[in-house]
Amino acid sequence: MYLTNAEERILAGENGEVMERMFRLLVRLGEIYGADKMIPVSSSQVAGVSYKSIGDPGVEFLEDYANRGAKAKIVTFLNPAGMDIEDWQKLNVPPGFAQKQLRIMNAFRKMGVVVSATCTPYLAGNLPRFREHIAWSESSAISFSNSVIGARTNREGGPSALAAALCGVTPNYGLHLDENRKPQMLVQVDAKLDDSADFGALGYVVGKQAKNRIPYFKGIKDADSDQLKALGASMAASGAVALYHVENITPEAHLMDTKGLETLSVSEKELDETFSKLSTGKEPDIVILGCPHSSLKEIMTVAGKVEGKKLKKPLWICTSRMVKEAANRMGFTQAIEAAGGKVVADTCMVVAPIEDMGYKTTAVNSGKAANYLPGFCKQSVVFSRIDTLLEKVT
Ligand code: F3S
Repeated sequence: MYLTNAEERILAGENGEVMERMFRLLVRLGEIYGADKMIPVSSSQVAGVSYKSIGDPGVEFLEDYANRGAKAKIVTFLNPAGMDIEDWQKLNVPPGFAQKQLRIMNAFRKMGVVVSATCTPYLAGNLPRFREHIAWSESSAISFSNSVIGARTNREGGPSALAAALCGVTPNYGLHLDENRKPQMLVQVDAKLDDSADFGALGYVVGKQAKNRIPYFKGIKDADSDQLKALGASMAASGAVALYHVENITPEAHLMDTKGLETLSVSEKELDETFSKLSTGKEPDIVILGCPHSSLKEIMTVAGKVEGKKLKKPLWICTSRMVKEAANRMGFTQAIEAAGGKVVADTCMVVAPIEDMGYKTTAVNSGKAANYLPGFCKQSVVFSRIDTLLEKVT
């Protein structure tokens, strides 16, 4: 792998031990995957932020790096934390957990990382352009940026995204290269897709079959960006899919040749089976929307549906702090709160310790959340379309 003189000097420790370690990690990755050189990246997005995921060793590691002067060279956003950083007390987050989470946020802030705490950085001020090289590590954001925007990122882990943030480069391999962005299977969809939950169910089915391959969808007549975010998140969760193409919808689809590809057909039958399979519970204790984090439009929709009603059960809508600010200005948050719901920023149903907050059965409209909640949060799940879920609480 070719390294410039300046890069060789980082490896020799001239820029300090933290930079040497981080750059060495990138070089190792590049060697493993056959990269020819390092390329500059314009932004990074770091996962592994919740105290629930990284525990005490993570807190100590981050504080050590921050105290040794590690600084992000490029715009770097953070994945959701384990709690709403401002309203954690109102949400009954255990204080011991909160104190550790705040230490994590402070360590990142000291490193110059934007403590955005969202899995939808593209909705919150970090929007790459077509063909821009980035180093992101949240699987749903990787899928969205590669597929819907046409930016280029590999599936970074938390440490490699942090290394890219500190060094400003990433090894040139995988999805940074044209030849690795071609579809590897065709998905023929013959099903009505009305709601984001339908796209989540579709993503679950395809991810299970794709297993890391790049699908090319035919038969999806229309999809807005919220529905594409639901599709990609679910496929990333069930099959580690980092890039997909949708005929006539995503920006690289028209460049791709699908001749001779193995075809998977998906009908309403498979989607219905997925809703049943992922629904392991019946009566939810709580409904949580916003996986991936809600857009302003999604919050507006929920506000319109619950306005003037009194909710019988807790309802959370997870989003970024930035989108919540806009929802506050528009009165959407107030409408949801007047009904008894909460617009929760900085966190989500999977990375917050909801199992320690008394919840056992959680209802969601997200294929990714439905897939993860049993394992990550010991929850039974009700997976359904938004109107059905809201009927359960109004
Ligand atoms: Fe985001 Fe949490 Fe879902 S990080 S993609 S809301 S599991």
